[in-house]
Amino acid sequence: MKFINFDEIDSTNDYLRKNHRLEEFEVITAKKQTAGKGKRGSAWISNEGAALFSFAVENNKEGLQEKITIFSGYAVYEILKKYIEKSFTDSAYYQNLKFKWPNDIYYKDKKICGILCEKIREHIIIGIGININNTDFGMYKDKGISLFEICGKKYSVETIIKEVMSFFEEKYKSVNKNWENILEKINEESYLKGKTIKIKKEKKLGEKAYKFLRIDRSGKICLIGKGDTEEIKFESLDFEVIL
Ligand code: BTN
Repeated sequence: MKFINFDEIDSTNDYLRKNHRLEEFEVITAKKQTAGKGKRGSAWISNEGAALFSFAVENNKEGLQEKITIFSGYAVYEILKKYIEKSFTDSAYYQNLKFKWPNDIYYKDKKICGILCEKIREHIIIGIGININNTDFGMYKDKGISLFEICGKKYSVETIIKEVMSFFEEKYKSVNKNWENILEKINEESYLKGKTIKIKKEKKLGEKAYKFLRIDRSGKICLIGKGDTEEIKFESLDFEVIL
């Protein structure tokens, strides 16, 4: 695995997209990003102390596009869980770490990691932002949380990136073979389990309440509307958690 490290860059995803001959698992890291990108055109506040990195994989596995965001979240989830587990003896602490479909990791009701996957020609770029030692989340002030805030300790950002990447690269070889197990884990640890959500259309929140059922084999979210007998599925969805 090769690393290219920057002190400051606009966006590690954009660097790969614009400037680079894509090589699988070559990791671009930055201490800071001046134009960090989040999903749906939002900004990703990228201050020092966060893990900010991107890499590409070849889009050559069956159904990869449907799986890759979830799989990436699974890799980050497992590494963060290990750190939180080490820090506390009480399991209640690491049980607060949850996977929020499709591409976030939450601790309690705050986001600790966001993932942005972008398809580019024969590759998929995976951009990961994890709040490690940083505590300033800018406009997302009350919505973000870092590993430091959870565990009360500072960590080596470089080591965490390497651990995520090693876990990713190793498990990625058998992603299709182990997909059912990964899904089971992700469904078990789903932030949306037991929660009521409302669907947003063109940024407007609908009235109808839905319950989360599961994430299915193709990475779609399955919901059931209050009073409905048939479930509905979405590949991507703008929604808000109500309860
Ligand atoms: C989201 O939750 O909206 C996705 C956030 C993804 C942020 C990471 S930080 C590294 C990489 N470079 C970017 O510009 N974005 C991703």
